[in-house]
Formats: sequence, C-alpha cells, structure tokens
Amino acid sequence: MQLEGITALVTGANRGIGAAFARALVEAGAAKVYAGARDPETVTDPGVVAVKLDVTDDASVRALAAELGDVQLVINNAGVGAPSLPLDIDIEQARWEFDVNYYGTLRVAQAFAPILAKNGGGALVNMLSVVSFIAMPHLANYSATKSAAWSLTNGLRQQLREQDTLVVGVHVGYVDTDLTAGLEGDKIQVSQVSDALVAGLLAGDEEVLVDEISRNVKSGLSAPLSVLYPDPAAA
Ligand SMILES: NC(=O)c1ccc[n+]([C@@H]2O[C@H](COP(=O)([O-])OP(=O)(O)OC[C@H]3O[C@@H](n4cnc5c(N)ncnc54)[C@H](OP(=O)(O)O)[C@@H]3O)[C@@H](O)[C@H]2O)c1
Repeated sequence: MQLEGITALVTGANRGIGAAFARALVEAGAAKVYAGARDPETVTDPGVVAVKLDVTDDASVRALAAELGDVQLVINNAGVGAPSLPLDIDIEQARWEFDVNYYGTLRVAQAFAPILAKNGGGALVNMLSVVSFIAMPHLANYSATKSAAWSLTNGLRQQLREQDTLVVGVHVGYVDTDLTAGLEGDKIQVSQVSDALVAGLLAGDEEVLVDEISRNVKSGLSAPLSVLYPDPAAA
C-alpha cells in the first residue's frame, strides 16, 4: 500500500516500538498519525496526534473507533509480558497478558475493520513475535498470547480479503525496549522494526520477518521437536 497522505492509528504509541512505528509513518509521508496511549499526555512526538486508548477496555476501543472514521491503516502494537515459567505464572498475570495481547488485538480489529472497509480496504498490522512460532520457557504465557495472536492474524487475513484489507503479521526477536529491559541477549533497535514494516507495507507484504532469528525459526518449523526444543541434558 502507499503511505503518502494516509491516515493511520498505532496502538501503544507513546514509547518503544509503537512510538517508532508512528514516527516512521510520519517520515514516510502519512498525512495524519494517531498515537494511541492509555495516557495521551505520555505521547511526546509533536508530529503525531495523541488519542486515548486502552485496548483492554471495550468502551475505550469503541469510543475511539467512533471518533476516527478516517483511518486507512491500523497497527495493533500495544503489548505486555513478564518473564515467568509456565507453572509459576500467576493466573491473573496470565489473563492480563491475554487481555492486552490477544483480546486487545481482536477488539481493535473488530472495531476498526468496518472503518478500513469504508476507506477502501487499507491495512491492519498485528505486532507479533518470533515466540508466535516457538515457545520460550521463561516467556511461556507471553509466547502463548503471541501464538494466539498469530493464528488470529491468519484468520483475519482470510476474512478481510473480501474488503481488500491487507493483513500483516510482524515477527521479531528481542528489541531494545522497556519490555526486554530485564532480559539478557542480543537486541535490535526499534528503528530496524519500523524500517522493516514500512518497507513491507510499501511492498504489500502479508508477513514481515524483521530479523535473522525470525526468518530462521519460521523456515525451520517443520523440524522435529527434538531440534526445536532440544533437551540440554541430552547434549
Ligand atoms: N521488545 C521486544 O523484544 C518485542 C519483540 C517482539 C514483539 N514485541 C511486541 O511489540 C509490541 C511493543 O512492545 P515494546 O517492546 O515496544 O514494549 P513497551 O516498550 O513495553 O511498550 C508497550 C506499549 O504497549 C502499551 N500498552 C500496554 N498495555 C496497554 C493497554 N491496555 N492499552 C493500550 N496500550 C497498552 C504501553 O503503554 P503504557 O505506556 O501506557 O504502558 C506501551 O505503549 C508489543 O506487542 C510486544 O509484545 C516486542
């Protein structure tokens, strides 16, 4: 899709990857970029329009959709997660991660799909992860939310074809943001994610595999479980 002159909404756009997406769209020529945030005062980029949005709150999502009838691109970026092994995670924490990462994505898709249709189709982007493809033990519930959101993305892609909406899944490993502050490992910069998404949107891609780990894991998914999930004790 072309980005010049369009109107876009990015959820969770006050910091991290969402703020980078919003900035990248402005730089790509978007006419108006709404930056969704639970507290609009935390949006500091003067080039975007701050709007109030909590993706866990039906009324908040519906109210924003009623206000933003001009949107042609929606980026479902808001997300949460905290490290925990599957047997150790508190159920309320697990539920909250699903409420933001899965149900939040679904709420926004349901509310904004008719607006995208009215405006010619446009695009719906879901910010997923390499852990949509492969579970990390210390991020097991977060991985489950991102697998569920990947499946939802694939379902939405099929349903929204009839209204000419491009549905895009974005996958990446660790990115240097608040979300990964306590995690060890190589991290890429937010600009690499936003650059890859802009290039993908311009090319009309349905899937954006930002980094090498996402590309390798996706292409290796047919490997035996012993390769995908090796037993360190057997090494
Ligand atoms: N960082 C990584 O390594 C990585 C890798 C793959 C995928 N991702 C995904 O990329 C997305 C952005 O992550 P990030 O790394 O930029 O994280 P981040 O820096 O922690 O930012 C998370 C964003 O989500 C917003 N948010 C949280 N709960 C919300 C809610 N209920 N309603 C609306 N907004 C909400 C936050 O707003 P507040 O400021 O109000 O909390 C913030 O803007 C997430 O979907 C994440 O899962 C991240």
